[in-house]
Amino acid sequence: MTPAMRQAWEADGFLLLEDFLPVADCEALIAGAARLVSEQGSLDQATVFSTTSRAHQQEAYFLESGDKIRCFFEAEAFDPAGRLKVPRRRAINKLGHALHDLDPLFQRLSYDPRLGRLAREAGQRDPRALQSMVIFKHPRVGGPVVWHQDSSFLHSDPPSVLGFWFALEDATRQNGCLFVLPGQHKQGLKERLRRHPASQGGDAGTVMEPLQAVNWNRDAALPLEARRGTLVLLHGALPHMSGPNHSDHSRQAYTLHVIDGACAYSADNWLQRPTDFPVRPLP
Ligand code: FE2
Repeated sequence: MTPAMRQAWEADGFLLLEDFLPVADCEALIAGAARLVSEQGSLDQATVFSTTSRAHQQEAYFLESGDKIRCFFEAEAFDPAGRLKVPRRRAINKLGHALHDLDPLFQRLSYDPRLGRLAREAGQRDPRALQSMVIFKHPRVGGPVVWHQDSSFLHSDPPSVLGFWFALEDATRQNGCLFVLPGQHKQGLKERLRRHPASQGGDAGTVMEPLQAVNWNRDAALPLEARRGTLVLLHGALPHMSGPNHSDHSRQAYTLHVIDGACAYSADNWLQRPTDFPVRPLP
């Protein structure tokens, strides 16, 4: 980070780095994601991922995906009778959540030394790759992601998560680019998702727990239109969202969430990696 970048990062809670990936890499990652979807075989047990209904947050298919590569469907891809309206490969909302450790192509990008350097410059002492996703935002069916902070879902004490968001295709206002509330990460964390405590039956569900009353000024929302190859670095407390895709162009992105191993990882986070498959440090 140059001094100007560091200043912008501290003031705004995000950084936009154009041309971080060559176009050829974006195309290889898009092809790799399509291959992973086709390798999933039967998608019968796959779950709808929707940040508006949040029903997935109670389902084992989602809650057990932290150490796997699984497909999640778009709610908009189904008709009222529950039949798919589009071909299955076009009905996928996202792949998650351990592409960075299970697929060589996504692993190479995720452990690129430039990411570790950025994470350390952003204040992490022991950056570790925690969670990864390909978000497809397919034409017409690509759903919105509502306003949220990543530290609500991937929590540590103190909160430390950083989001690395890579545009694999051009992201525009028409196909559902990111929006952020610059500087509003300084208001702190509004809520967090916790597993139900075992004393309440120990089921697999989760609950969103308010932490403090925070009023986000959504009038200040800034669209982050991004050419493919752009990396957007997001502070874990920065409110962000993306709209639905009503256009004819998909908006594929890869995201990697990095946590600071020097902070205590919350034992009641939805994502728990097994002890024989620990999160690994970024070089
Ligand atoms: Fe996010």
